[in-house]
Amino acid sequence: MSSAFALSDKSVLVTGATGDLGLACCSALSAQGASIFASGRRESLDTLGHPSWRSDLCEAEGIASLVDAVPELDGVVFAHGVSTLRPVQFLNKDSIGEVMEPNLTASLSTLSLLLKKKRIRAGGAIVFIASIAGLTGTAGNAAYAASKGGIIAATRSLAVELARKKIRVNAICPGWIETGLTDSLNQNLSDESVKAQQAKYPLGAGHPQDVANAASFLLSDASRWITGTALPVDGGYTCQ
Ligand SMILES: NC(=O)c1ccc[n+]([C@@H]2O[C@H](COP(=O)([O-])OP(=O)(O)OC[C@H]3O[C@@H](n4cnc5c(N)ncnc54)[C@H](OP(=O)(O)O)[C@@H]3O)[C@@H](O)[C@H]2O)c1
Repeated sequence: MSSAFALSDKSVLVTGATGDLGLACCSALSAQGASIFASGRRESLDTLGHPSWRSDLCEAEGIASLVDAVPELDGVVFAHGVSTLRPVQFLNKDSIGEVMEPNLTASLSTLSLLLKKKRIRAGGAIVFIASIAGLTGTAGNAAYAASKGGIIAATRSLAVELARKKIRVNAICPGWIETGLTDSLNQNLSDESVKAQQAKYPLGAGHPQDVANAASFLLSDASRWITGTALPVDGGYTCQ
């Protein structure tokens, strides 16, 4: 008998599949039986072993060609995104757009076209990888926090809007997890401030697999009555 947690017979699109969290999602979902369709920009996409498309989701053409190519889906994990730390004095239209475009605009535009082209089946589930930055404050993080807070707010509205189509929408809010994205942030921080940041996690360090396991649950029938949530996967960071 198959478990409600299994993803057998489900087709799932993972964006950001070349990134560390996206890659972990591909492995975890595939281990639960899902057929994975992957999108990213780097060449490493071609070595994942899943049908994949190189698409810049900040470009209308990139979104259109991806949506045209994918089959009907039971789930989407939006695991692409960028991050920068910039004090507010250094923010302007361009630098804000550099974060908002991929993290918020690209995610909503891609979802919009997937729905318009009827690529998501009734009973499907959407998972956005947001961030605890959308729930808590950190100095220098206003633009990134706004992009993730926007995704969390959109998740609630989408959950209400898409319930009549029997499509669930949830966000995962990971804490700090060592990936390509945090490597580039670490380069601008002192060792002391990185260590101080890491010490704030009651359960210690998290791993990409922790996020992937939550995504797997939120895509599965085991979460059939859960929609519109922003689930912290953060080792207890936000409960302090
Ligand atoms: N790591 C953390 O601590 C953490 C915490 C909270 C939330 N998150 C969120 O989790 C998501 C994944 O982060 P990660 O840590 O896995 O980062 P990562 O390893 O740097 O991966 C980022 C991914 O996003 C893709 N991407 C970026 N811009 C894109 C665009 N315009 N079009 C299509 N794909 C694009 C990249 O594709 P290419 O490399 O192929 O260009 C890559 O696959 C991000 O939204 C991030 O904000 C991460």
